Amino acid sequence: MHMKLQDVRIKYLRFFESQGHTTLPSASLVPENDPTTLFTGSGMQPLLPFLLGEKHPQGVRLVNSQKCFRAEDIDEIGDNRHTTFFEMLGNWSLGDYFKQEQIPWFFEFLTKKIGLDPSKLYVTVFAGDKKNNISRDMEAVELWKKLFKKHGIDAKDIEILTEQQGGERGMQGGRIFYYDAKKNWWSRAGVPDNMPSGEPGGPDTEVFYDFGTKHDTKYGKQCHPNCDCERFMEIGNSVFMEYIKNSDGTFSRLPQHNVDFGGGLERITATSNNNADIFKVDALDIVIKHIEKLSNTAYESEHLRSFRIIADHLRAAVFMIADGVIPTNTEAGYFARRLLRRAMLHMDTLGMPKNTLTLLVPDITNAYAKAYPVLQEREQNIQMEIQEEEERFRKTLQKGLHEFQKITTKEISGEAAFDLYQTYGFPIEVTEELARKKNVRVNRKEFDEKMKRHQEASRIGAEKKFKGGLADHSDMSVKYHTATHLLHQALRTVLGTHVYQKGSNITPERLRFDFTHGAKMTNEEKKKVEELVNQKIQEALPVTYEILPIEEAKKRGAIGLFDDQYGDEVKVYQMGNSATGIFSMEFCGGPHVENTKKLGEAGKFIIQKEEAVSAGVRRIKAIFKK
Ligand code: ALA
Repeated sequence: MHMKLQDVRIKYLRFFESQGHTTLPSASLVPENDPTTLFTGSGMQPLLPFLLGEKHPQGVRLVNSQKCFRAEDIDEIGDNRHTTFFEMLGNWSLGDYFKQEQIPWFFEFLTKKIGLDPSKLYVTVFAGDKKNNISRDMEAVELWKKLFKKHGIDAKDIEILTEQQGGERGMQGGRIFYYDAKKNWWSRAGVPDNMPSGEPGGPDTEVFYDFGTKHDTKYGKQCHPNCDCERFMEIGNSVFMEYIKNSDGTFSRLPQHNVDFGGGLERITATSNNNADIFKVDALDIVIKHIEKLSNTAYESEHLRSFRIIADHLRAAVFMIADGVIPTNTEAGYFARRLLRRAMLHMDTLGMPKNTLTLLVPDITNAYAKAYPVLQEREQNIQMEIQEEEERFRKTLQKGLHEFQKITTKEISGEAAFDLYQTYGFPIEVTEELARKKNVRVNRKEFDEKMKRHQEASRIGAEKKFKGGLADHSDMSVKYHTATHLLHQALRTVLGTHVYQKGSNITPERLRFDFTHGAKMTNEEKKKVEELVNQKIQEALPVTYEILPIEEAKKRGAIGLFDDQYGDEVKVYQMGNSATGIFSMEFCGGPHVENTKKLGEAGKFIIQKEEAVSAGVRRIKAIFKK
């Protein structure tokens, strides 16, 4: 039977439910409450506090399929196995079961539920790390041997350690392979030496599926499970998370031993159909077939890579937008923009008609209708965002291409690539694609440095303007800025604490405030918010600030956009004090009026307009009126 993503997802969840696990919904692609990262990149990320010992309300055995985005894989897209967005099947033991259960369960799932032939499975285990005093994982080896033996397979264990040694030594008739920490140790920071203190991690064991394709010697003389030729595909990783790094660089055992399993849903589906091309799984295949029709070009052609890039990038952008990301020039929004613009360039390569990217959206929302019905609910919004982004990019694309054609050197400097970005909105991947066609190199390092300096400079600018900020520091702008804090808190009081700031823009004429909220505000809600703001103005609340360590500020319940722009310490503005009651406490650089009564001089606070910006994000424009 040809399996779909939905079939495998359900089989996995049901199987682990039958082993006493509770199914959790996927967390958002954009982590809430985690300013250290822009996107969720693995299933364990939202569970970190529980792996460190906090009690999870759903118990000690959990399972889910988590939406993930890995920005670092953007450059890899085009081969048969990488995608930027993917779902990670995950099961966790929070101080409960360990290797004895995890290894046989996963093996049973693959062989019995998915129907994989055990003779096509190969595994890798941790070879040990003498320097950090962590031993070789013999327990995992014994468990694997026993399982293979039940299927009449004599599983020989072979030492390989590194990719280079693998390329030299090859399979040697082995079934179980020892690799060093680079391959068989997992933490969010990678190998033990790279882990910061307080970070958990542990040895892991990975399962590979053998597609039986001929080894490509471009990747080494011999083949081995971690070889990059397309014979083997990694389909699951069981991490035995039982260590934590100490501040002196040594390792201790965590108070509880955890299992953190992660397996690519798309990859497991691909292996279940014995087809190594993950773009042949249903949700991506549908998009590819549609692109074939629109472009009148075959997928299996010299344009394969363009097909894969469009399908991958569009799917990632659809999921991002559904989770509230809008294509912009900063942070998460910039990834949505890069994905969409690069996809558009490849549409042109294939000769797809313009403005058709949006036609592919329903293919994706339909394919995910059961698992993520929210995609269909937000379909129109998603299409609108993508359409607008295409229109924006098309406006400068021709001019940019014209400019690009004038480049005659063999290497495009970081400076020139940066100009293309600033003037024509060419994300670096777009410039790189164009350069590739001309056989020209791009100095990526120089570009990245320039981009970093630019971002730092605009950050300093943003600190001065205070985040998406003030057009100037005129008396009225400062008043609107203080009013923005009152509005933010009033929205949270009236609508609920799911409301948080997505953006803010202030001129001497008005304030504009974007915030998360799923529905149009009713007239009554708007009235309540206006009244609350005006009431707080009348109460004449003193406005003060304190510089606090970021942890302390969070502990006190300060709200607002706190990213790393302020370093370890943050400025927290407070409206009200112990005498009047504290109404609002928010991360902010200022400036503000010294007392809310000052706002009263400008008139009455009025919400002029409330509208949608994107799925789950609303915008308010408000003024003072005498
Ligand atoms: N957290 C592990 C991974 O991402 C399972 O591979």
